[in-house]
Amino acid sequence: MEEVVLKLAAVTKAFGPLKAVRSLSLEVRKGEIATLLGPSGCGKTTTLRLVAGLEEPDEGEIFEAGKLIVSVAQGLFTPPYKRNMGMVFQSYALWPNMTVAQNVAFPLELRGLASKIIREKVRGALDLVNLGELEQRPVPLLSGGQQQRVALARALVYEPDLLLLDEPFSNLDAKLREQMRVEVKLLQKKLGISALFVTHDQIEAMSLSDRVAVMHDGDIEQLGAPLELYERPRTPFVRDFLGKTIILQGTVAAKDQERIAVQMAGAPRHLSCLNHASPGVAVGQKVCLAIRPEDIAAQLSPSDGENALRGSIETCLFVGDHYEVHLRLDGGGLVFFYLPRGADLEEGRVISVKFPPERVSVWPA
Ligand SMILES: Nc1ncnc2c1ncn2[C@@H]1O[C@H](COP(=O)(O)OP(=O)(O)OP(=O)(O)O)[C@@H](O)[C@H]1O
Ligand SMILES: [Mg+2]
Repeated sequence: MEEVVLKLAAVTKAFGPLKAVRSLSLEVRKGEIATLLGPSGCGKTTTLRLVAGLEEPDEGEIFEAGKLIVSVAQGLFTPPYKRNMGMVFQSYALWPNMTVAQNVAFPLELRGLASKIIREKVRGALDLVNLGELEQRPVPLLSGGQQQRVALARALVYEPDLLLLDEPFSNLDAKLREQMRVEVKLLQKKLGISALFVTHDQIEAMSLSDRVAVMHDGDIEQLGAPLELYERPRTPFVRDFLGKTIILQGTVAAKDQERIAVQMAGAPRHLSCLNHASPGVAVGQKVCLAIRPEDIAAQLSPSDGENALRGSIETCLFVGDHYEVHLRLDGGGLVFFYLPRGADLEEGRVISVKFPPERVSVWPA
């Protein structure tokens, strides 16, 4: 049994008529980064604030390292300062009138530690985030990325059991975000810290997390390892929220244990899909086929092999490190896929694309 550092059991929080969090249950295991991922307004920040003790739930229970810290039924609510959690807010929330070192020392002073110990711990935390040199710098004179690190050092300095991170990189430019992502991952592994991370950026969620909880309307729709969510989404919402998906319409023509054959409008042949990748559908039923663009294989000389469909190129966009090719299928459907640099194709050219049966999933329309 893996150790659980945080558990939410059927937690609900409403603001007036609006249910921001609906009976949400979640466990964070020791040493993992668990991420709440979802669109704006789905309840991520509210969930994090409930965990930190900045909001009180209307229903449910919260456990910290196995100990009950919030129970609506029992009238129990543990205040934030009695929870051993470090929080990094989206806005950093640093004190502008203090130096870097004073900001990081603040949580330790609150806890009444001796000044010599405070100095040592602050030095240690700043070294961890590579800010040792800037201890005496006033916070307003730091770059966004440096302020981000100060906020992280301040959350790490008292060695919390759980780190709560709310969109911590949202104010950084793309390059710095990528850099901070790698740094936080390395730091978290090095310290063996457990973290609950919040983001609406799926690349950030996928690359940083051990497990991702996709949130929708105040509850978790699917929880799993990043690759599992990406390859085996259980709902259309998760499928469409993560990565890019091409959806084509069709009708189930035949079905056996292993395969589902789907007839697409205007297509000369059935498309064959592995049955186990798809939820239950019946022969004659209208369905959607879903495939990721990176799973589509282009065949520059048109072919009529299994699961190959012909089409003509509508446009070929150069997007920096590859081409994105939009293809009008003979039956009328539109798909896009990727080609490496140097493979520019002229508009109107006829090629075919192959849909690997194990990469196509079939969904009720
Ligand atoms: N203090 C509050 N009073 C009233 N409504 C609130 C309050 N805090 C949040 N809400 C509402 O609750 C819902 C969830 O908000 P929350 O901040 O948790 O979303 P989020 O997933 O963090 O979104 P974002 O990605 O935009 O930060 C939203 O509809 C929001 O307007
Ligand atoms: Mg938020």
